[in-house]
Amino acid sequence: MSTAAYLDSHRPTAERVTDLIARMTLPEKVGQMMQLTATDGVRPIIEDFHAGSILHTSPERMIEAAELVKNTRLGIPLLVGEDCIHGHSFWEGAEIYPTQLALAASFDPDLLRRVARATAVEVAATGIHWTFSPVLCIARDLRWGRVSETFGEDPYLLGELGAAMVEGYQGNGLNDPDAILATSKHFAGYSETQGGRDASEADISPRKLRSWYLPAFERVAKAGSATFMLGYQATDGVPITINDWLLNDVLRGEWGYRGTLITDWDNVGNLVREQRLFPDYAQASAAAVNAGNDMIMTTPAFFEGAQEAVRQGLLSEARIDEAVARILTLKFDLGLFEDPRLPNPERQREVIAQPSHRDLGLEASRRSLVLLQNDGVLPLDRERPTTIAVVGPNADDAQTQLGDWAGSSGQADWLPHGQPRDMITTVLDGVRAVAPAGSDVRYARGADIITTGPDPRGAFFADGQPRPHVAVPVDPDADQIAEAVQAAQSADAVVAVVGDRIELIGEGRSTATLELLGGQNALIEALVDSGTPVIVVVLASKPHVLPACVERAAAVIWAGNPGMPGGQAVAELMYGVIEPSGRLPISWPRHVGQQPTFYNQINAQHGDRYADLTQEPQWVFGDGLTYSTVEYSDLSIESRTVPANGVVRATITVSNTGARPVRETVQAYVRDNVTSATWADRELKAFTHVDLEPGATASVSLEVPASACSIVNAHGVRIVEPGEFTLLVGPSSRLAALLDAPFTIVGD
Ligand code: NOJ
Repeated sequence: MSTAAYLDSHRPTAERVTDLIARMTLPEKVGQMMQLTATDGVRPIIEDFHAGSILHTSPERMIEAAELVKNTRLGIPLLVGEDCIHGHSFWEGAEIYPTQLALAASFDPDLLRRVARATAVEVAATGIHWTFSPVLCIARDLRWGRVSETFGEDPYLLGELGAAMVEGYQGNGLNDPDAILATSKHFAGYSETQGGRDASEADISPRKLRSWYLPAFERVAKAGSATFMLGYQATDGVPITINDWLLNDVLRGEWGYRGTLITDWDNVGNLVREQRLFPDYAQASAAAVNAGNDMIMTTPAFFEGAQEAVRQGLLSEARIDEAVARILTLKFDLGLFEDPRLPNPERQREVIAQPSHRDLGLEASRRSLVLLQNDGVLPLDRERPTTIAVVGPNADDAQTQLGDWAGSSGQADWLPHGQPRDMITTVLDGVRAVAPAGSDVRYARGADIITTGPDPRGAFFADGQPRPHVAVPVDPDADQIAEAVQAAQSADAVVAVVGDRIELIGEGRSTATLELLGGQNALIEALVDSGTPVIVVVLASKPHVLPACVERAAAVIWAGNPGMPGGQAVAELMYGVIEPSGRLPISWPRHVGQQPTFYNQINAQHGDRYADLTQEPQWVFGDGLTYSTVEYSDLSIESRTVPANGVVRATITVSNTGARPVRETVQAYVRDNVTSATWADRELKAFTHVDLEPGATASVSLEVPASACSIVNAHGVRIVEPGEFTLLVGPSSRLAALLDAPFTIVGD
């Protein structure tokens, strides 16, 4: 008997796809378009639904699923997906890196590429082929629960870091056994919430989408992101799941994207249940597939719905074939028919948290930290033994340090206790390890944050996702605070590690406030009043509003879920073993009512302050201190007249005028002096790093293509408008910190 063409690896993929589709029944094709969760077992998924893909699969269920697939009629291998978004999130003992937002503080695409590559190597060894990362949502309202999954507020930074992660995941191409599929998500505008409420209607015009929300997606589409995931949102009445303009005109048409589209969780169900655009699953399934979705995540009713739609003539089998072809192409390109890339225990022993990944984890943690305030207390004395008090609810909470999508954060049910404690260094562990021999390191918890309890409305939402517990901030506890103050009183310094907890982070967990909850503000106040220098470490998923007394603290460090060795990195920073180098990828408000605080807003308004408060954020995008002082001078542009297809080439002199080495992030912003439609005052267009020893000076070159100096005009068209521009270069987005030089763009 001759081998079926689709099983012949010598034939071109397109031929194999056509052959296989011709052999498939309609139920098999519809099942191939489905991704179902393995949390309730895998047998029905494969035997009843013929599913093409599974997600949230424990290691045991993955092996069971692969066995079941072997016995199916056509033996089509599964695509196994998981949210491995800052390391192999739910694999016990894998390296967990800082969250995306914390990694963004490095402003370093190369670092992100390496983190994604190392993640892919670990993930690939465990039978998973597809990660749902990177997130390219812009974080503009900090109340939103998913801020830590983003790269922050700047579209250019988002695109550069996102493209680097895509390249890292997909490595040398999908046939590389260490490559996994990247997913760029959530297309597009999901983060434009109302009041920070997760997945609310995204009130956003096509022009605004094109101005700020789409460029990063276009960048990764061109960088070859194999898949795109839609968000949950509807915009101007149109759910993204059926947004023909975005999916077809823009993504497939203008950008020529040929990859595979996956919905978010139960988007098709949502069309019926909450968005109520269709009365039944036949119509909703038809609309979703006709709009261009290829894979439908976790909507079991799609199976009958899509078949019924074909019967009713709402959906053609030809359109289903197109979607199935895209999914099968991924499977052939990954080589799954020859090698289904099942979990490989031997390879796992070699690669999971291998020494180079542990080293990379520490490097990433170090680069994620941002020094925001320092009266000179830092760096601490590394030679002389001292007394240090380490206090606060996040000083010694290993799992909290890892943040969302990690270990015990709740999306997987097979790691109830989280990642191994001995792989995680808390700040307390770090100080104990790094403080000079003979130091007295004391610990007191000092405050709690919240209590939690089940939501009386039930354990699950209608879409089957777990309903978060209700979090209630606790009252300050006088005894806890007194204990911490006592520990601080005779100490040389006190490190107060405050922040948020997993119950306040993530999907469906947006916060109404941005304050440090529970007893934390009272704790900080009491510590500041004790007279001992206070180093506030904000170990928090996102920026928080700090109490006014923090102005009297000696130092503030932001450690945004800094990964497994995060506590080691924080201690190293405090003791000057490493230099602070992180920069804020997102602005920090003084008050929740200032939202939004992103730097690249349009400046047209009456005045520039609220009647009762400044509009100035506490710290702005790009801010971050070093232990040295750095001066910028002599900004010059090679040629001040640049053709529209040319490049603005600039140099600037950067000098380390202090006594410590620095890694400086040199940032270049562009202002279009006169625009045909209102536009941001300045936007980041380039950045680079320079390492300078004390006393050293370097000439740093920066390039900005003239084509990047564009705006979206009132007709929604992105164009470069020739005329006068200003290049602004310096250490942060703060106007006062930037040197400027004019240039002119000429021609069309
Ligand atoms: C829903 C989330 O919005 C998405 O980001 C995630 O990838 C999927 N669930 C799968 O877990």
